Amino acid sequence: MGGGALADHWIENHKRDSWRKQAKASGYRARSAFKLKQIQERFGLIRIGDTVLDVGCHPGGWAQVAVELVGPEGHVVGVDLEPCQEVEGAVLLTGDITDPLTQQRVLDELNGEKLNVIVSDISPDITGKWDMDQSVAMTLVADVFDFSLPLLKKGGAFTTKLFQGIGVQELIDAVKPHFSSVRRYSPDASRNSSSEVYLICRNHMPWNSPKESIRERYEAAVDVLVGGGEIEDAPEPVTPTFKVRRRKSE
Ligand SMILES: C[S@@+](CC[C@H](N)C(=O)[O-])C[C@H]1O[C@@H](n2cnc3c(N)ncnc32)[C@H](O)[C@@H]1O
Repeated sequence: MGGGALADHWIENHKRDSWRKQAKASGYRARSAFKLKQIQERFGLIRIGDTVLDVGCHPGGWAQVAVELVGPEGHVVGVDLEPCQEVEGAVLLTGDITDPLTQQRVLDELNGEKLNVIVSDISPDITGKWDMDQSVAMTLVADVFDFSLPLLKKGGAFTTKLFQGIGVQELIDAVKPHFSSVRRYSPDASRNSSSEVYLICRNHMPWNSPKESIRERYEAAVDVLVGGGEIEDAPEPVTPTFKVRRRKSE
């Protein structure tokens, strides 16, 4: 590692440690709690009394922040593959958000109540093959949108983590018709991870939802981007530009 890269690496580790120490001192379970706090400071998505769905909630940092923000009148439901230690004031379910059984448990917990805000910090297991991991993560986010958007109130907000790479703009384009404002934001607490960015979607417009799902529109756009959506034309019939004259038989 060269001198410059070494210094950058040191600064990154130092920042990460600093957020970790702050998280410990403040009683949050994860330094990621500061990311949601910073998103909230900037955009004010969550209000007192709100009903919030927290997708990918383990170990519970965002759930802690959400409970503080909604207060005793609010309702926070979280879901993660990993079981979470209890967070007072939140209901944290264990399961895969793409699994219909888990989805039904979320619906049961909401009992017909609509959501004011969806927050998703979901990230799938990393295999180390960046392109594949990033593409799996993007599809997962599209699935989270498709499951949870019908539960979101008119005017509601949605924030989700994305990993930079192929398809980010395509996903943003697929999400845009659903909200009056969709923008990217990098909280300071996540700047040490240059690969992640948060999408801040505000003012849900359910009446404007296209017929096809977000995943379908996202995948179709990515197919075009990588060339898989091209349909090859049948070869044109070739008209010869010369004539063959038959020799008269001698
Ligand atoms: C970065 S962590 C979330 C941290 C959390 N926001 C906090 O502040 O404590 C991402 C989580 O997404 C979860 N996850 C990944 N795929 C999932 C899936 N299909 N369904 C539910 N959770 C999932 C992982 O288990 C992991 O705990």
